[in-house]
Amino acid sequence: MRNIKNPVEMILKSLDVLLLLSLMQCFEKHTAMLSYRQKAEQLMKNTSLIDGHNDMPWQLRKRVHNDLSKIDLNTSNITQTNIEKLRTGLVGAQFWVAYVPCSAQNKDAVRQTLEQIDVIKRMVQMFPEDFQLTTTADGITEVFSSGKIASLIGMEGGHGIDSSLGTLRMFYELGVRYLTLTHICNTPWADSSKVDSDIAKPGVNGLSDFGKKVVKEMNRLGMLVDLSHVSEDTMLAALEVSAAPVIFSHSSAFALCHNYRNVKDNVLRKLANNSGIVMVNFYPNFISCKGTATLSQVADHLDHIRNMAGADHVGIGSDFDGFERGPTGLEDVSKYPALVAELLRRNWTDNDIKKMLGLNFLRVFKEAEDVSRQLQKTNTPSNDVIHRDKVQNPCRTFLGYSSAAPCHHCPSIHIISTVMFIVCLRSIRT
Ligand SMILES: *[C@@H]1O[C@H](CO)[C@@H](O)[C@H](O)[C@H]1NC(C)=O
Ligand SMILES: *[C@@H]1O[C@H](CO)[C@@H](O)[C@H](O)[C@H]1NC(C)=O
Ligand SMILES: *[C@@H]1O[C@H](CO)[C@@H](O)[C@H](O)[C@H]1NC(C)=O
Ligand SMILES: *[C@@H]1O[C@H](CO)[C@@H](O)[C@H](O)[C@H]1NC(C)=O
Ligand SMILES: *[C@@H]1O[C@H](CO)[C@@H](O)[C@H](O)[C@H]1NC(C)=O
Ligand SMILES: [Zn+2]
Repeated sequence: MRNIKNPVEMILKSLDVLLLLSLMQCFEKHTAMLSYRQKAEQLMKNTSLIDGHNDMPWQLRKRVHNDLSKIDLNTSNITQTNIEKLRTGLVGAQFWVAYVPCSAQNKDAVRQTLEQIDVIKRMVQMFPEDFQLTTTADGITEVFSSGKIASLIGMEGGHGIDSSLGTLRMFYELGVRYLTLTHICNTPWADSSKVDSDIAKPGVNGLSDFGKKVVKEMNRLGMLVDLSHVSEDTMLAALEVSAAPVIFSHSSAFALCHNYRNVKDNVLRKLANNSGIVMVNFYPNFISCKGTATLSQVADHLDHIRNMAGADHVGIGSDFDGFERGPTGLEDVSKYPALVAELLRRNWTDNDIKKMLGLNFLRVFKEAEDVSRQLQKTNTPSNDVIHRDKVQNPCRTFLGYSSAAPCHHCPSIHIISTVMFIVCLRSIRT
């Protein structure tokens, strides 16, 4: 052993050792994160990430009135979504959302929904190298294997069917594969989460009889029942009525952020029995209940839902382009691999990650397809019509409503509707 005489030299030596040790630790952490990242990308190249909710079509309406020649979707950086970023983010399948605001309820909601479906289809056709429309679970897997991004259509807001099962069926024919039963307004047959936060009064305390028929007809068609945005009573009613697994296309965990757009633990516990899935929303207001949030906080929501409902019942429904600013680390659609790396760091198993990425959603979708095949053996399209005193509004005609339907307030309704008709006529003239 060398005799160190100088105490200063001794201190410096030990400082050197400390420095070296912390440098090594930092380096280890860094390489660990790098290898998590590599591992994440490997997993995502093998298993399709299926994102339940992207509002790019709404941006197209808002920003360019659906004129696709006015925006370069390859590289647009005024939106959180573009094709370059989708590729960097290793997105395998995306539900593009035909969203129509509640201000259109009882007005032109059906037309606006049709226009949003139209713009989704035109967007997909414009980029045949990158997008391919699909409407089935097997289709998602096939398109993903071909290297393209499977593109599906979700419809946000039950007001878009204008309380009509025939309209619902035609949306299915156009390729819609989920319907969010409400947006931020009650429909005549389902209550929205606004009811839980006392901003709106309950209309039907969950689902009305007609609302239950909507859910059953969706089951028969093979259209997924989306419970994001609905009230807790509506969630519970739908879980009771639906013969197929339900989805929450873009909701997070209420226990971590008390916002009624999120899902409470009692519902999460019920979800396992229904075989359904919550696809976690990245909107900071639902993650941290504040204007800002972090990637790590999003991972906390995934952890919580996995713990409460089980690894078979969690997924991703980012809501990109449905909010102003994403969490730090999850700013746009290129960032998903960073989230997957964080889950690997948290010791999620490869299998749990694959389920979360897409296998859970594929299971849900396939089960809904099976239920539909079964129901179609016995059930024909439903002729049920909502009771016409539930859908009073000035511009609605009485055509299509059975006069045999019980109508307890008919005389007064006739007077009211005559007055409303005159009001409507006058408002059209002015
Ligand atoms: C994913 O990996 C499994 C097992 O290694 C393999 O059988 C499968 O073909 C891969 N799928 C894709 C899409 O790469
Ligand atoms: C988008 O980019 C691809 C690849 O660079 C190119 O082939 C394609 O023409 C572009 N599409 C449009 C509509 O600009
Ligand atoms: C978006 O792209 C334009 C043109 O390429 C560039 O000038 C601008 O700085 C970019 N904006 C952002 C926020 O990256
Ligand atoms: C689970 O679901 C089945 C139908 O799939 C139902 O009969 C049963 O009551 C449910 N159990 C619970 C605990 O909710
Ligand atoms: C992951 O597992 C390792 C080994 O069991 C353990 O040392 C580590 O603390 C765990 N990490 C987390 C974030 O739970
Ligand atoms: Zn929404």
